[in-house]
Amino acid sequence: MDKYIYDLLPERDAVVKEMEAYAAEHRVPIIGPAVARLLTLLVQVSGARRIFEMGSAIGYSTIWLARAAGTKAKVFYTDGNPENARRAQEHFRKAGVAKRINVQVGDALELVKKTPGKFDFIFNDINKHQYPDALRAALPKLQRGWRYGLPQGLARSLFYFHVLRPQCQ
Ligand SMILES: C[S@@+](CC[C@H](N)C(=O)[O-])C[C@H]1O[C@@H](n2cnc3c(N)ncnc32)[C@H](O)[C@@H]1O
Repeated sequence: MDKYIYDLLPERDAVVKEMEAYAAEHRVPIIGPAVARLLTLLVQVSGARRIFEMGSAIGYSTIWLARAAGTKAKVFYTDGNPENARRAQEHFRKAGVAKRINVQVGDALELVKKTPGKFDFIFNDINKHQYPDALRAALPKLQRGWRYGLPQGLARSLFYFHVLRPQCQ
């Protein structure tokens, strides 16, 4: 199933493919290219520029967010693991998006509250048992007309993407 879906997708560039290979070898649970394309679409149709990511790992999804939001993007990377952050920064340089990304190491629930300003889009990809607390921390930080995304992997290739809209507040 994974192979069928992934074979339908356009070729990725060398940096992204290197990250996919690293994630497969080291079992890093990245969103993968199918969910990444949906994320790209959501960012592009919403016109989001200022984006906060909770749980960025090696920066795979962060690169997709930064590219989707364009050259004026400001994407906030967060992860609790400093080694992930170090590796992610290497990838950001190689992918040519380092200037669009602010890297913060620590608890994403605290960081989203502490980072000044509001966000157009918050992508939450931390451990699932933290989702209720993450939602409580993230909602006050969203602009009006906000989007809050959660990936839910099923057989690693099917996905459900939940976007809450203002009328659901
Ligand atoms: C599913 S992985 C993220 C994958 C990444 N979004 C991607 O698709 O490329 C989850 C990451 O969240 C981090 N994490 C879990 N809980 C966290 C928290 N409360 N604060 C910051 N990072 C957290 C873990 O270290 C892990 O790297």
